[in-house]
Amino acid sequence: MIGKGRSDVRVTITGLGAYAPERVITNDELARMVDTSDEWIIERTGIRERRIAADSQALSDLSMPAARQALEQAGSDGTDVDLLIVATVTPDMMFPSTSAILADQLGAKDAAAYDLSAGCTGFMYALAQAYGMVASGLARRALVVGGDVLSRILDWTDRSTVVLFGDGAGAVVLEPSEETGFLAFELGADGAGGEHLWLPGSGSRHFDEPEKAIKMNGREVFKFATRVLVQSAEDILSRCEVTKEDVDVYVPHQANVRIIDHATKKLGFPSDKVVVNVERYGNTSSGSIPLALRDGIDDGRIRTGSLVLMTGMGAGLTWGSALLRWTL
Ligand code: ACO
Repeated sequence: MIGKGRSDVRVTITGLGAYAPERVITNDELARMVDTSDEWIIERTGIRERRIAADSQALSDLSMPAARQALEQAGSDGTDVDLLIVATVTPDMMFPSTSAILADQLGAKDAAAYDLSAGCTGFMYALAQAYGMVASGLARRALVVGGDVLSRILDWTDRSTVVLFGDGAGAVVLEPSEETGFLAFELGADGAGGEHLWLPGSGSRHFDEPEKAIKMNGREVFKFATRVLVQSAEDILSRCEVTKEDVDVYVPHQANVRIIDHATKKLGFPSDKVVVNVERYGNTSSGSIPLALRDGIDDGRIRTGSLVLMTGMGAGLTWGSALLRWTL
């Protein structure tokens, strides 16, 4: 699915927040749990450390500080949010939805609230949905949260996955605006590749030996990721008749520095235009892009007027890009 935003109705991000739990796990600590090393992890992934939720923290606990920051920046206390979408594969529980839990905590009594599952691409899918609802006039103020507590669904004895992931969440507020914010979205899914990154035994399908941990074919996911990051970016830029040189900041999903480097080179973006923070957080799934937006703002690269290209990819297999003019 690809489409440009409406030219008669403008929608933008009016607030952003991000949160990662306090507990840091370094590569050396992981090397004491599984047969790996700091050198291997840095060379193959670029990751140096990741944040891991405390036993008492569920997704809503990570999401709430991010949501509060985003709402504060947007000048809202949350009671006037009328759409709340949480993109995640690790909700507090299957139901009630984490979004309904957050809506209650925020006092958003008139909000439609639901969770959305699109793997690590969830935040991009949720942005597109919220954009559509706000642009159509169905919602006035939307809160989009992307976050995951992947540490809960990792096999902590599996060195091939445990080194990659971390926990974190981010949130944005979307509202109608005088200025053009979102310009276009491109979203896609390839269910045939779903077997390369999956959580068998996590739903209604019967498995003889149900697993409660992520299963991944790293090489296949790597090939998929490098392909779609480039393709999706090229498609959305071409649809908007925007050149790569016009893009001020590129915010790719933070899965692996090698994947990001590959996409960046193919796309021809100089490294100073690319936000990379995977070395500090690992892959936080739906939290990854909002955490990277936060860092891009903090280091001064994302500022008012910047043309920002974001692309996510992940389980499903799914991918998604958004192009927006930063108006904050
Ligand atoms: N420490 C040390 N050795 C390891 C580790 C580890 N943590 N993990 C694997 N190895 C070994 C393997 O066993 C293999 O050994 P062998 O040659 O004796 O068989 C060797 O290292 C090479 O393994 P490869 O899988 O070929 O390593 P590769 O260079 O492909 O890197 C990696 C593996 C990092 C997983 C890479 O394939 C990757 O990043 N893939 C994408 C993963 C990803 O991004 N997933 C998330 C997608 S987003 C979402 O929705 C969650």
